[in-house]
Amino acid sequence: MTNSNNMVIRPATPDDAERLAEIYAPYVTDTAITFEYVAPTVEEFRARIVKTLRKYPYLVAEADGQLLGYAYASAFKGRAAYDWAVETSIYLRQGESGRGLGRLLHDALQEKLQEMGILNMCACITAPRGEDPYVTENSIQFHDHLGYRMVGRFVQCGYKFGRWYDMVWMEKHIGPHPEQVEPVRFGLQAGGASTPKKSLIVYGSRYGTTKRYAERLSAETGIQAVDYQEVKTLEDYDRILYMGSLYAGQVTGLKKTVGKLSPQQELVVVTVGLVDTADAENIARIRRGLKELIPAANYDETRIFHLRGAIDYSRMKVKHRLMMSVVHAKIAKMPEAERNAECRIVFETYGKTVDYVDFGTLKPVVEAIG
Ligand SMILES: Cc1cc2nc3c(=O)[nH]c(=O)nc-3n(C[C@H](O)[C@H](O)[C@H](O)COP(=O)(O)O)c2cc1C
Repeated sequence: MTNSNNMVIRPATPDDAERLAEIYAPYVTDTAITFEYVAPTVEEFRARIVKTLRKYPYLVAEADGQLLGYAYASAFKGRAAYDWAVETSIYLRQGESGRGLGRLLHDALQEKLQEMGILNMCACITAPRGEDPYVTENSIQFHDHLGYRMVGRFVQCGYKFGRWYDMVWMEKHIGPHPEQVEPVRFGLQAGGASTPKKSLIVYGSRYGTTKRYAERLSAETGIQAVDYQEVKTLEDYDRILYMGSLYAGQVTGLKKTVGKLSPQQELVVVTVGLVDTADAENIARIRRGLKELIPAANYDETRIFHLRGAIDYSRMKVKHRLMMSVVHAKIAKMPEAERNAECRIVFETYGKTVDYVDFGTLKPVVEAIG
């Protein structure tokens, strides 16, 4: 047990990963407090800290150079309407509970969340079904003392150590819920301003349409734009805005670019194609391709946008013209009712010069990276 006189609560950094992973591991291996089966590696833990800090507070309690515990918030659910609610997690080093450290961490976290405009703190807690060697009622009682109310109990929804566990959700409102609510200030840390992200626009463009969009986005945001073929490393950036044109469903240059990404980096993808971006089948097809290509560690958080491009047969390379003539001949034989959005646009624009570029459609991208 550590003398807590010298204790400070400070924001976590990725360099705390090793010591925090050490605190967390026994909860995984020896308890049912977390439902993870395998303790994360230091690298995985580091990635989790980085990911959390992009949007939420992550705090550690430190005394005399030793880390005693940590607390962080994560998205309650990814959908926009849930922005004002978070899930909270608190873990203390073995032997450090029962001295008020959990409350200190919780209250510091609550304060940071209130500064951001978060209104609901939610806790997902394992509930023992009677006497249990791996979990007690302590966490439920702890949250009860902190002002949480019980929301509901999920019966036998977790299986660990050869037995079934119940889980409860508890919640605490930490602010009023007005009719007109201010947006949450994600990324606000330690009471300071948002940490500016180091971003880079990378584009893959064969005939210049996507390049035009990329240059416009660059002008509007002040973020440098480079051709993917000129990128050697992405190491220096927190966020990559990848803009690529679609050719037979593939995004130009994306494969090469995601090969240089690390799990910690945020990715925003903007596709540029001729097919109607309001067509659900077209969007679903593009997204299936993206999911296959983008590493899972990045994909979950990747925001994706779709813009419309241009086509000019007079400037088209022979290879592409041939491809289009084969496709066009196929479509010509198809009954009209069977033609999807892709077929229709290829057919309608065949041999012509058509430009659907609309810089106004960049607005949601600019807002998202705000
Ligand atoms: C051979 C070929 C295949 C294409 N495939 C697709 C496609 O699968 N989906 C789509 O929406 N647009 C497709 N297009 C249209 C291009 O994506 C569009 O022309 C885009 O604006 C090109 O951008 P860029 O000039 O930046 O390369 C294709 C165009 C050609 C020439």
